[in-house]
Amino acid sequence: MTEEKLKELLSSMTVEEKIGQLVQLTGDFFIDEGIATGPMEWLSINEDQVKCTGSILSTVGAKKLKDLQDRYMAINPHHIPLIFMADVINGYRTVFPIPLGQGCTFNPELVEEMASVAAKESARAGIHVTFSPMVDLVRDARWGRVMESTGEDVYLNARMSSAAVKGYQGSSIGDKDKISACIKHFAAYGAPVAGRDYNQVELSERTLKEEYLPAYKAGVDAGARMVMTSFNTLGKLPCTANEDLMKKTLREEWGFDGVLISDWAAIKELVFHSVAENDEEAAYLGIKAGVDIDMVTNVYINNLKKLIDEGRVPMQWLDDCAYRVLAYKNELGLFENPYKDADEDYDGKVDSEHMAFARKAAPESFVLLKNEGMLPIPTKATNDCGSVAFIGPYMNETNICGSWTIFNNNDDNITLEQALKERNPEISYVIEPGCKTLAAGQHFVGFQSKFDNPLTEAEQESMMEKAVKAASEADRVVMAIGEFNQMTGEGASRTEITIPEHQLELFRRVAMVNDNIIVVNFSGRPLDIREINKKAKAILQVWYPGTVAGYAVMDVLFGDAAPSGRLSMSFPYNVGQVPVYYSELHTGRYAEDPENRFTSKYMDAPNDPLFVFGYGLDYTDYEYSNLRISSNTISENSPIKVSVDVKNVGWRDGKEVVQLYIQDMVGSVARPLRQLKAFDKVDIKAGETKTIDFTITTDMLKFYDVNMNYVAEPGEFKVYVGRDSKASLCESFRL
Ligand code: GLC
Repeated sequence: MTEEKLKELLSSMTVEEKIGQLVQLTGDFFIDEGIATGPMEWLSINEDQVKCTGSILSTVGAKKLKDLQDRYMAINPHHIPLIFMADVINGYRTVFPIPLGQGCTFNPELVEEMASVAAKESARAGIHVTFSPMVDLVRDARWGRVMESTGEDVYLNARMSSAAVKGYQGSSIGDKDKISACIKHFAAYGAPVAGRDYNQVELSERTLKEEYLPAYKAGVDAGARMVMTSFNTLGKLPCTANEDLMKKTLREEWGFDGVLISDWAAIKELVFHSVAENDEEAAYLGIKAGVDIDMVTNVYINNLKKLIDEGRVPMQWLDDCAYRVLAYKNELGLFENPYKDADEDYDGKVDSEHMAFARKAAPESFVLLKNEGMLPIPTKATNDCGSVAFIGPYMNETNICGSWTIFNNNDDNITLEQALKERNPEISYVIEPGCKTLAAGQHFVGFQSKFDNPLTEAEQESMMEKAVKAASEADRVVMAIGEFNQMTGEGASRTEITIPEHQLELFRRVAMVNDNIIVVNFSGRPLDIREINKKAKAILQVWYPGTVAGYAVMDVLFGDAAPSGRLSMSFPYNVGQVPVYYSELHTGRYAEDPENRFTSKYMDAPNDPLFVFGYGLDYTDYEYSNLRISSNTISENSPIKVSVDVKNVGWRDGKEVVQLYIQDMVGSVARPLRQLKAFDKVDIKAGETKTIDFTITTDMLKFYDVNMNYVAEPGEFKVYVGRDSKASLCESFRL
């Protein structure tokens, strides 16, 4: 539809019809028998209001959405199509590693490809918009939603944000098999005080702008057509009512002209935040901040008309919001084709090419934290390692996709046990889970009885005894353990970030009878794995690998694939260190001398995390040498080239993540010890040496100075290149 026609449509709509476009409901208002029944009561809205709704969330399926669109458009006064939105966070039917694992790939092109696959599968299921990527910077492993983010680093998050948007949207959201991305949660939702979900966020303006906003901006710059407001307050003002953030920063400074949607009931929650006396005030604050869509509440639909009639809300505000929603539908091509790419033949089936791709991609998210000659597991084909006992609940746990997988079919999931049996490796092995992921008799709060573990203590004990016996008779043990997937995600903050106690008990008992333990750890957050680290000879962090987890893990354990992930988030020594991240400030009393009491350190723990950002081993090894710099001075028009030689000194080909960090030695405000400014994931064959080149520009040196100007200041800088955030090869230059 042309812009002119769109404007004509808008002008032909009543106030109620315009308001309707700003309303998003769940699909159950549009159940099969009629267009709306049941939930209307609790939302106290009427049939006419439901008929004017602008969009629906969380209902999927090509046939269901085509039928729904038909019935809805028939009764909508202007036959305006609905937009269908859903949380496709790490895949639709083919589920990929959780985003925190995707961050560990350090491979934006791979992330873009995963998003592109998710877009196709979603589009064929009738979905038009995904509430993804979540690009909140995260540095607090107590917060359950770190699993949804690509980690602690400003630059890495920005790269991944941009990659995901491009993968979902391609060059236009109206194109075939493309869907609109939604950048969330704007802003800084990932820094709740005490790591407790939905809690307040307290950041200086400088930290907000320098560290937390870049990933949102990268997504907007990549063309994201929707942004979602966050639940949290920022400086005690709820973001959903923060006009500065939503208008000045997002729309005026960044030029975002897409749709702004609230998070679930976030407009109504302005009342609970105690910044709105009632729903009417909440509606006023929401539309004043320019929030276009009210997700799943009746605040807009039951209050905006009164605010307009009373002149408190100018009609222009409503027209602007309604027009953006109509324009969004137009950009998606829904006026011409209300079904977009819904495909009943394709939808509902497994795409074997996608599954094969997922199997290839997942090992790039796995991080090998430790390996003392344990991995890969040799078989008779190489040299017999003897027998292996495969122990732990994740051998047959089917919840292996992360807590944001809603639309996949768990029956598709490949467990480790299934993959091992299919592989049938040339070794003698046994499988003894030893326990379930949740403890015997445990009721898992929040899911009624869906995940309850019916085992009795006695049954669990006998499982453990069988597992320990198997371990005592084996030459090597693989222990597949970790936190239950729903112990992470929304509403899943934890104050103890350890593997569930009953699983640790199993680990301890196994460690008493066998020294050769390989731990495969499943988690949605960095965990305190000190105890594991002391006794295991190998640790493979696999996060939640997705649908083909079993295949991907076995491919790595037996060496068909190598793990090439590097930590996108620090693994703390213990929860007491949290939030812990590499790009910290020096402080006035950096702890260099352990004997000096009065320095910034703990009495009972080191300052360093157990495993640092950017860290990860490989099945081969690399040597860095010959770091050179094209000049020791840099200026705006003359960037610097930095080169390093990286040699694969191992026996097999590998993928190395070469990382470049910069330290600004002196600034008008304190500057971080170092910041990741570039990385390159390169294939290097066994024995091969590759020269990796980077370009440093003055843009990479900019920060918010003492007057909040975004500038690069003259002075000395150091550049470090290496395998992780402790890289020591160093050169310096001056601006
Ligand atoms: C949730 C989440 C948000 C999600 C939305 C819709 O509460 O905060 O990330 O996209 O509601 O499900």
